[in-house]
Parts: sequence; C-alpha cells; structure tokens
Amino acid sequence: MIKQEWEQLYRDISLCQACDLAHTRTHTVPGEGDHSAAIMMVGEGPGADEDRTGRPFVGRAGQLLDKMLDAFDVSRQQVYICNIIKCRPPGNRNPASGEMRACLPHLTRQIALVNPSIIVCLGKIAAGCLMHENFAITRERGVWQEKDGRSYLATFHPAALLRDERLLIDAWRDMRAVAQRYAQQQGGAHE
Ligand code: URA
Repeated sequence: MIKQEWEQLYRDISLCQACDLAHTRTHTVPGEGDHSAAIMMVGEGPGADEDRTGRPFVGRAGQLLDKMLDAFDVSRQQVYICNIIKCRPPGNRNPASGEMRACLPHLTRQIALVNPSIIVCLGKIAAGCLMHENFAITRERGVWQEKDGRSYLATFHPAALLRDERLLIDAWRDMRAVAQRYAQQQGGAHE
C-alpha cells in the first residue's frame, strides 16, 4: 500500500507539468533515502549535477553534506533527502514563489509518507517554505521549532558553507544538535 503510494508519487513528480520548469529540466529530482527515516533533510532545488543525474545533493554541496552526516555516524541511506522544488531552475537562480507553490504538494506527500520526527531545512529558502516566511537564516538557524508533531531545525545550505568557511562552525553545531536529538529519540545519548 505504502509502496504503491511512493510509486505513484514518484510517477507524478516525473510527469509533473505544474510549472514552467518542466520545459527546461533534464530530469526531475524527487528525493532519495530511507522511506521511513526519522530525519528528513530538505534543500532548495536541484543544481546542474542533480538535473543531470536525477539525484539530490550529488554535486559539491552534496559531498560536503555527506561528510557532515558521516561525522555524526549518519549515512545518506539513513535519512531522506529531497528539495522544496523537484526541477532545476535555469542558471541555478532561486526558485520563484509560484514554482515553490506549484511543487509543494509533492513535498507535502513526501513528508506525510516518510513521517519524520526531525526535519532539517538546508538554507533560507527551505526554512522560509517550511518554518515561516522571511526566515532570517543567520539569526534563526539552530533554533528548534515544533510544528505538527515534528521538530524543525534550519541550518546553512551546504553551498553557502562552500562559499564562506566561517559559517562552518555554526553548521557543525547544528548538525550536532540534530544528531543529539535523534539519539535522544532513539533512547541513547550522542557525544
Ligand atoms: N542544492 C540543493 O538545494 N539541492 C540539491 O539537490 C543540490 C544542491
């Protein structure tokens, strides 16, 4: 039953024509990982590498994300990773609000199916969409928000970390907070 819902969701995403990005994409990038993960990580939208492969976070930003997860003994297969929008905006521009609105039903279905207890918003765009409008990433990152029975935390987007190494220290702090909350939920403690 759940398997069919996932298949239907991925089919709907691959055929989606809800916005103009359908005309410029190479592949849709639905998301991947554990379909019943406790942690869901949500980025902004696919870049060139993701558009080419159909997989989320496989470029340089994704490699950094993998390293950070690894450092806390979390593998990519243990989390579910996706984006607010499933198609690449040309030239890597920010997604337009209409594109995000058009794509949101896919993400809403994904969240309902995975049913994660923790949602990590990677960057201001994801946080603005899932936590609250006009999210101030520098000021509000690292602060837990409880909503609809889930814990939300925003941190810097890995691409921002590649541009400005000074942000790394806070990003590591945020990842540690995520790992700790996850460990608490599993009934253990994390260093
Ligand atoms: N940046 C994102 O926000 N998502 C990806 O999948 C890759 C880069």
